[in-house]
Amino acid sequence: MALSPQWLDELRSRTTLSALIGRTEKLQRAGREFKACCPFHNENTPSFYVNDEKQFYHCFGCGAHGDAIRWMTDQRGLPFMDAVKELAEQAGMEVPAPDPRYAQAAEQRASLHDVLGEAQAWFVRNLAGPGGAEARAYLKQRGISDAQIREFGFGYAPDARGAIAEALSGFERDMLVEGGLLISVEDKEPYDRFRGRLMLPIQDRRARVIGFGGRILNKPEGSGAPKYLNSPDTPVFDKGRTLYNIHRASAASRQSDRLVVVEGYMDVVALAGAGIAEAVAPMGTALTEQQIELLWRMVPVPVLCFDGDAAGQRAAMRAVERALPMLRPGHSLSIVTLPEGLDPDDLLRRDGPAAMKTLLGQGESLLDVIWRHERAAMVQSTPEAKAGLKERLMAHADAIQHPDIRALYARELRDRFSEFAFPPRAQRPFVPHRQQGKGRGFDRFGSTNAPPSPLLRQLGPATARTRLMGAVILGLARHPALLAAHAEQISQLRPEDAGQARILNALLELAETGQIGSSSLESPDIPAILAERGLGLPPGDAIGGMKLAFLSDRTMEPEATTELTEAISLLVERPAIEAALVAATARFGDDPEGSFAEQQRLLKRKLEFDARLMQMAAMRGGNQ
Ligand code: UTP
Ligand code: MN
Repeated sequence: MALSPQWLDELRSRTTLSALIGRTEKLQRAGREFKACCPFHNENTPSFYVNDEKQFYHCFGCGAHGDAIRWMTDQRGLPFMDAVKELAEQAGMEVPAPDPRYAQAAEQRASLHDVLGEAQAWFVRNLAGPGGAEARAYLKQRGISDAQIREFGFGYAPDARGAIAEALSGFERDMLVEGGLLISVEDKEPYDRFRGRLMLPIQDRRARVIGFGGRILNKPEGSGAPKYLNSPDTPVFDKGRTLYNIHRASAASRQSDRLVVVEGYMDVVALAGAGIAEAVAPMGTALTEQQIELLWRMVPVPVLCFDGDAAGQRAAMRAVERALPMLRPGHSLSIVTLPEGLDPDDLLRRDGPAAMKTLLGQGESLLDVIWRHERAAMVQSTPEAKAGLKERLMAHADAIQHPDIRALYARELRDRFSEFAFPPRAQRPFVPHRQQGKGRGFDRFGSTNAPPSPLLRQLGPATARTRLMGAVILGLARHPALLAAHAEQISQLRPEDAGQARILNALLELAETGQIGSSSLESPDIPAILAERGLGLPPGDAIGGMKLAFLSDRTMEPEATTELTEAISLLVERPAIEAALVAATARFGDDPEGSFAEQQRLLKRKLEFDARLMQMAAMRGGNQ
């Protein structure tokens, strides 16, 4: 066989991707990878990564993704075979001679495109002709304009069993069967698949017709005929990899930065009529992985619309479950639930385009959908039911393959579960339950929680933050291994104090350049290194008296680092909560109920954080 998967693998592994890409792009080394400003979209900070080991490039900004061959086709604009030939030459490999069977298959596909193109032209002529009157009346009654009829290529298949073979007599009958236009049953003349139906062409990304959907005009009661009939899978039509309207939507999505997925062909048409051209639909089946990948190539967070009825909600959960294992940084789905019993077409008719646009902007996150769905599935509130809820929530998180995303989902779902399953009792002292791992500072502290001293009450969260920041910086200087391990999180610390910011930046720079933290065998003299740069660590007594394991000379390493890690998380997440609160408050006008609930949740979280911050920044008894 020509170009077997094994041969292509060999070609990929003999090609050093970074060298190939490095010819035209300026690559910087980043650990085991290389990074650059993405050649596929405009940016000033690099989010395009090249990984030689995994043999692919990936852009976290625009989702561009591929291997060496894909680079040659997408970035250099070469046809597939030319790309392969050029890479093979560089790799010193011989391109296998074309297999006659392969060439034949390619030719056959090409002529299937011709057949289907001809069929489409014929359907369009039928709609305009005398036989198309009923179909034209139907379109008119649905309010579909002539411009839309032309744009979407509506056509009509006459109610006859031998019409298409006659109209396309220039093609072999077998080709019409192969293209799904004729149905062939043993011993009988092949006959027309689409009879008396309004026809919609289904096109690929290059706008070639690959199949059809045919709608019955006026369904006789109890006739049992399906409303829509679609082409069967053929060599050019793979339903699981096809999205209706993708060729128009992908161009439109680049303008609007949005992509809407609906269930029906007619919903796509109606949305386009309302000025939302970036809509696609699967072929009447649940979204497949390949379709989700296609969506993510166009936008990072496509918006999926589902009916509010039970069937629609089941479909939504199916889509969520399909997407979870595939999640990667920056990519997700937004889920819009329509009022029960309405599809987008109905909603546009009833409430107009503005209402639809508002709804599209208010999609729920995957996490919210999971929480809402599982929470609603719990009817009793026995401990067993609660435990069942927790198990189902964690099973969703476990389905996620990306480790960071999995951890973040698990944590957020556990938080919501705890808040729901262990509501605080009146008068009970505050016991944070943010982390459940054993030995976490949080749990330990909760149980020894004492009422804040008068001095601490004066201190206030802002001062507590600055004190804790100082302690963290001192702690990092003492435990430099953490600098490398948590560099990303640490770089999100934003000290308000300029002196603290300078020292933190210097520490991060030392870690980034490998001067500290990388090998913890020899412990560098950090105060001396800082002094060379004219910086001094805060004197111990400025933050003295804080009972923090990582400031004590006597504490063992694991305890110190656990507490230091927690302090860093507290300092990083607190501003994030504040920002989320501002966002939730701003949403109040659009969604008072949702905004209020979110505000309550965030306020509570903020109080917990502040309480913990104050505990950490508290002074030892004798020092007050
Ligand atoms: P809908 O019935 O929601 O489609 O089915 P629609 O586009 O809103 O249809 P109208 O408004 O009544 O004309 C959703 C999709 O499911 C597939 C089609 O792809 C349809 O667009 N379907 C539906 C079928 O394949 N066969 C059917 O019999 C019905
Ligand atoms: Mn409809």
